[in-house]
Amino acid sequence: MTAWILAFESYDPAAERLHETLCTLGNGYFATRGAAPESAAGAAHYPGTYIAGCHDRLATAVAGRVVENEDLVNCPNWLPLSVRVEDGPWFDLDTVLADGRLLSFRQELDMRRGVLTRLLRFADEAGRVTRMAQRRIVSMDDPHLAALETTLVPENWSGRLRVRSAIDGRVTNCGVERYRALNGAHLRPGPNGDNGADTAWLTAHTATSGIGVAVAARTRADAPAERTSLSEPGWTAHDLLIDAEEGTQVTVEKVAAVFTSRDRAIEEFSAAARTRVARADGFEELLERHVAAWGRLWRRCQLSVDDEDVQRVLNLDMFHLLQTVSEHTVDLDVGVPARGLHGEAYRGHVFWDELFVLPFLSTRFPEIARALLLYRWRRLPEARWAARAAGHRGAMYPWQSGADGSEETQRLHLNPRSGRWLPDHSHLQRHVGLAVAHNAWRFYEVTGDAEFLAEYGAEMILEVARFFADLAVYNRALDRYDIRGVMGPDEYHDAYPGRDAPGLDNNAYTNVLAAWVLCRALDVLRLLPEDRDAELRERLALGPGEIRRIDEVSRKMRVVFHEGVLTQFEGYDRLAELDWPLYRRRYGDIRRLDRILDAEGDTPNRYKASKQADVLMLFYLFSPDELSAVLTRLGYPYDKGLIGRTIDYYLPRTCHGSSLSSLVHAWLRARTDGQDAWRLFTETLRGDIDDSQQGTTPEGIHLGAMAGAVDLVQRCHAGVATQGGRLHLAPRLPAAIGELRLSLRYHGHWGIDITCTQDRLHVALHPSVASPIEITSGDETVTIEPGGSWERPLEHGRLPQPGETPATPSSTPLSSGPTAAHR
Ligand code: BGC
Repeated sequence: MTAWILAFESYDPAAERLHETLCTLGNGYFATRGAAPESAAGAAHYPGTYIAGCHDRLATAVAGRVVENEDLVNCPNWLPLSVRVEDGPWFDLDTVLADGRLLSFRQELDMRRGVLTRLLRFADEAGRVTRMAQRRIVSMDDPHLAALETTLVPENWSGRLRVRSAIDGRVTNCGVERYRALNGAHLRPGPNGDNGADTAWLTAHTATSGIGVAVAARTRADAPAERTSLSEPGWTAHDLLIDAEEGTQVTVEKVAAVFTSRDRAIEEFSAAARTRVARADGFEELLERHVAAWGRLWRRCQLSVDDEDVQRVLNLDMFHLLQTVSEHTVDLDVGVPARGLHGEAYRGHVFWDELFVLPFLSTRFPEIARALLLYRWRRLPEARWAARAAGHRGAMYPWQSGADGSEETQRLHLNPRSGRWLPDHSHLQRHVGLAVAHNAWRFYEVTGDAEFLAEYGAEMILEVARFFADLAVYNRALDRYDIRGVMGPDEYHDAYPGRDAPGLDNNAYTNVLAAWVLCRALDVLRLLPEDRDAELRERLALGPGEIRRIDEVSRKMRVVFHEGVLTQFEGYDRLAELDWPLYRRRYGDIRRLDRILDAEGDTPNRYKASKQADVLMLFYLFSPDELSAVLTRLGYPYDKGLIGRTIDYYLPRTCHGSSLSSLVHAWLRARTDGQDAWRLFTETLRGDIDDSQQGTTPEGIHLGAMAGAVDLVQRCHAGVATQGGRLHLAPRLPAAIGELRLSLRYHGHWGIDITCTQDRLHVALHPSVASPIEITSGDETVTIEPGGSWERPLEHGRLPQPGETPATPSSTPLSSGPTAAHR
């Protein structure tokens, strides 16, 4: 197994859904789970095809209420292909396994080429042995095309081989057990048919969003075949009957085209699918162009470590990131679905997870990052409406966002442990809007894209700032501003014990980040060209009074402390301590402590026990200098030990119920304890491969953790940061990594090659870089010319061991330059 191959050497029905997720193939326009082509949805299998941005809303009566849910729709399945020998049963993987007739099996995902291969040998009941090899792609070259090549060799028989190639539009959204009570029948069958030759096609419409989806599939064999076409509402197929000869290989190629009525540059989606498939080349040619397209992507993703196992997972993370969002996403008006296009968990919704995804994209594919930010910008009117409806100015982004940017968070969720439907208050995570503003600012810093800032970023930052300045309530007694009734990232706390209304007061993460965003809003007003500034103020009716308010709140936001640490929210210090050893002994894995406590008739709201990093997110987003600047401006004391004390306080009180948690903690521990940081980092890396969040990966990848892990290597281990218009490099490698190489894009410059070891840093600029670049490492600053290079020894080139004093802050954000203007 190389760093590019993920292989499964046997078929295990219990692990199959996990493997389907990990072997999903996609291109940013659509993705198809790595399901067995011959299997329909069942206990072990869940074929799913998801088109970016194809959402639909349905209502269901549950627990005495009607709830509405918007789902990323499971679209017609282009994949089905099954075989049968003579009049025997259709080949079924589970049956041959159960009967001991599966003679060999191997599945392998080649990430470099984007190819999924399955090799198997099986015998039928009459002892006829067939060898099958399948290769599959979802084209990165033409986003509408996918192809499946099946090669069959009768090893010890000759006879009639029947191959059925179908398109199944009868699929529903039923991939997540705990959503099963909810209506998932999103597709209404439309016309289907065939072209009288080698192509069948099928159409459907989504139930309420009315999106037309068409799939056309061309199936050809390299042997003479008698062809029959079959069709039912929502399903169509071609059967090929082939005279197979012992030892002679038969190859069947299925090429599918997928279109929707929302696509650009088409007249009608069904005709578009048929035309595209008719014009498509054969498998080999499609494969060649697909591999070349992946080659171009990988060239822009260069990031390598000298540990093959780690590298494999980093490759897998980048692979799934680019299958979810790619250059084909740029024109689509879609956001970052938290679980990829890989399954139905969280219904394809967009949370705050782009916070973990955009930093990497911004240094490699800024055009994709920009497109994802525009998804938010286009939904400003909806966010403004939400703010107004809540009685506020500005823009209030939803915690869960889908098609139109309205709040998609469910109001009830099922605890599978207790079977109870519980109220869900997570929409109170107002901090999501702060993440949007933060991302817009960071994007501008890293890319220097002033046009983005002027046209889009400024408006989002200002509208979010306005909302928070208005949400903050003046507390006369303290001469401070409070933010009440919200939730922080820690979803295990949504209310005060004994208080009727949900929500918490003065969540430190929200308040500090809000104060920072308010400062950036003031920066934006200074940075904008005069005419744009005047235009924006006029259009947003942003008068001097409101700007004064933004300034005032940015200086007087309330932050609560206890025992010398930042307090997660006001009153947190009065909660009970959880008996952690008892719960660990009793339940083993206590990551879903919320479900455990609920099943016991208790609630995490009573305890100092967090699902994930909450306060600590501040140290993930901000360098110590930035944090000190915000707190000092607010008039709070900041001492060097605050960060360490706060980390030490919350870390043992966190149970990592979110995949994002170990990622953030790995980053934070890198300041003080390289060993623990590495442990947490490898935990993050193994998260999806091992399905460590207890059965959740079969329902989709955890994209934030995947992209965040790659970003961590770049920003935390290679120590890449930009400050004051300069590129800073402060590498600190974990003991397990001897060498780290990466190639970056920064302020429009392509080709900054960085190599670091534990004791040396080497930087080289491609000759094509447009102008000299100033780079700082330690106390040296140099200007490197295009084509030039620089090498220097590193004194602190590895993460500190426990007890060592960290030499430099290890959580420097990618940028923090222009902030200085407002300190
Ligand atoms: C986490 C959120 C995250 C969401 C989607 C939840 O479990 O608590 O922070 O945004 O998953 O990834």
